[in-house]
Amino acid sequence: MKKNIIISIFFLFLKINFATSDDKFLLGKDIFLNAGNCLACHSLQDAGSAANVGPNLNEIKPDIGRVIISVTNGAGVMPSYLGILSQEEIEAVAYYVAEASVN
Ligand code: HEC
Repeated sequence: MKKNIIISIFFLFLKINFATSDDKFLLGKDIFLNAGNCLACHSLQDAGSAANVGPNLNEIKPDIGRVIISVTNGAGVMPSYLGILSQEEIEAVAYYVAEASVN
């Protein structure tokens, strides 16, 4: 009996964790496609974008920190999103790009 409770709690935690990262992924994808308009310049298979103004994200596979830096500061013709996207949105889009580009 006790064992079952422990197992249920374990799965509950697992589920909560999945739900949270899933939400972040979906929020990030939405920003990539809409508010951030990243698809206008970048190819990313998961987002269905095939633009090549900026580097193909499937090829450079940036980690989350690298995306946060580029989105925050801008890079070349890429605008800085400071004040356009919130810190939370920048983190979400960076999470999305880092996760989606390795697949
Ligand atoms: C107007 C076109 C444009 C838009 C919009 C744009 N980018 Fe970029 N991005 C570029 C270009 C061009 C570069 C290459 C800049 C350079 O290295 O000179 C770049 C570089 C990058 C890099 C790689 C930087 C590095 O370390 O090499 C990442 C990651 C990135 N963009 C992510 C994004 C994300 C996420 C968004 C949306 C929030 C976005 N970009 C929106 C044009 C764009």
